[in-house]
Amino acid sequence: MTDADLPQGVTREKIWDIGTRLFHWALVICVGAAWGLGKFGPNIMTLHFYFGYAVIALLIFRVVWGLVGPAPIRFSHFIYGPRTTLRYLSTLRDRKPSYWPGHNPMGALSVFAILALLIFQVSTGLFVDADDYINVGPLAGYLSSEGNRTATFLHNRAALAILAIVILHIAAIGYYKRVKGENLVTPMITGWKLVRRNKD
Ligand code: HEM
Ligand code: HEM
Repeated sequence: MTDADLPQGVTREKIWDIGTRLFHWALVICVGAAWGLGKFGPNIMTLHFYFGYAVIALLIFRVVWGLVGPAPIRFSHFIYGPRTTLRYLSTLRDRKPSYWPGHNPMGALSVFAILALLIFQVSTGLFVDADDYINVGPLAGYLSSEGNRTATFLHNRAALAILAIVILHIAAIGYYKRVKGENLVTPMITGWKLVRRNKD
């Protein structure tokens, strides 16, 4: 679609900055690798740890970016009240693009959920002691062995929640493409997104 063919009020804008885009795709690689290595990797989990540390670095970047980064990516920019969220929810089944200039209210909730789950996952990982004398998180010594067991249990359980939310995340993006005719992936690659302003 050339810009001349865009529906009235819709413009093409640079929404996702390079930092956010690199963050996202690096996160996909590192979370994917940490997950796969955790479940199916070698018994000695050094590589799993390294990808886990990379996720920690990415999350620190994202939190800083959420406070001081460009407007669309700042947390304050996508905290929506219940009215806006409910109004958006009622349009979710419409077979037309949202043209939202950033994360829409539902997407925003899922972003917070994914980030919170990942913070929980890496935090518990640091305290894991899998009782095999090999795969010991660097902070495991600060907890009792009961605490280590709890951290291990929570780390293993939260891994399933991460799998579920990532599947939901990808399904939602597929839904936008197939049902609403809105491609959200290309903007996460190029930064440019079709948007309609004056949403509250
Ligand atoms: C391990 C897998 C994944 C994780 C952990 C993940 C995580 C995230 C997070 C945290 C965001 C919010 C971006 C931000 O504000 O920082 C996001 C947005 C996004 N992700 Fe993913 N993602 C994953 C896989 C994918 C895949 C495979 C795709 C492509 C099919 C994808 C496409 C997108 C898109 C298009 C957005 C922007 C959504 C919007 O317009 O609001 N993600 N993802
Ligand atoms: C987002 C990052 C991470 C993901 C997605 C992840 C995922 C996983 C998964 C899927 C497992 C296997 C669970 C099972 O067998 O049921 C696992 C185990 C483990 N993870 Fe992580 N992990 C992450 C970060 C970390 C970090 C930062 C550390 C420590 C530095 C860590 C330490 C461990 C250890 C020691 C185990 C073995 C637990 C056991 O044998 O029961 N993980 N992780």
